[in-house]
Amino acid sequence: MSHTILAATFDRWAANGRGAEMETEHGDVARQVIAGMKIRAGDQILDLGCGNGWATRLLAKAAAGAQALGIDISPAMIAEAERLHSNTIRARYAVGAFEKLELPDARFQHVVSLEALYYTLDIHAALAEIRRVMKPGGTLDLVLEYYAENDATALWPERTGVPMLRLTESAWREELERACFVEVASKRVIDSRGLGDPARFRPSACYPDWRTWNDIHSAGFLWLHAVKPR
Ligand SMILES: C[S@@+](CC[C@H](N)C(=O)[O-])C[C@H]1O[C@@H](n2cnc3c(N)ncnc32)[C@H](O)[C@@H]1O
Repeated sequence: MSHTILAATFDRWAANGRGAEMETEHGDVARQVIAGMKIRAGDQILDLGCGNGWATRLLAKAAAGAQALGIDISPAMIAEAERLHSNTIRARYAVGAFEKLELPDARFQHVVSLEALYYTLDIHAALAEIRRVMKPGGTLDLVLEYYAENDATALWPERTGVPMLRLTESAWREELERACFVEVASKRVIDSRGLGDPARFRPSACYPDWRTWNDIHSAGFLWLHAVKPR
């Protein structure tokens, strides 16, 4: 897998409407995480793997004068983000890769990545780049539904054809500590909307049947939080 192939894969997801579907799938948990982030007026926020930018726009609206930048490897996702953009929201979008961010040092108070960092081709390079662009004392929040304890997600790479990094909760924490983050914490977040109506359930690659959806939902999303030392 290379960045070119990753970009082409997620360009196809964008063309198939997956950007919008992901807002439905991840929106409730994202709102819970953003509410816990203590975003303050004027903060600069980076959303890594922003897809069509729905969360970038939420982050930009989280406090007066906050500004959010969404980065994604897929030009089609970024084009979709631009199309959905409103000039009344202080959000911007750019094509880029986790592992080599074309951004200045110490720029952001907050970095967020929702359902994206497990696609990295090099976790050490990605975490070093994230740390580099964060201000001292800045916060990192990662949200991941694909992690080793969430057993029913194990077949996602096979089902979607995209390689994914499968780590336990403690291994993710160790990666963050190895990358010199401090105050590393983790918890599980459950989608507060519940399972929904079985009659309206639509199978997909990641949620192929009602039983698997139940198992994934009840395991919850892994929310990792860390701070760049001052
Ligand atoms: C599952 S989607 C999540 C999108 C959005 N954050 C959400 O929760 O709906 C993962 C996104 O990460 C992007 N991505 C994957 N690998 C990447 C990389 N190495 N660098 C930047 N973006 C990447 C993909 O293009 C895709 O839009």
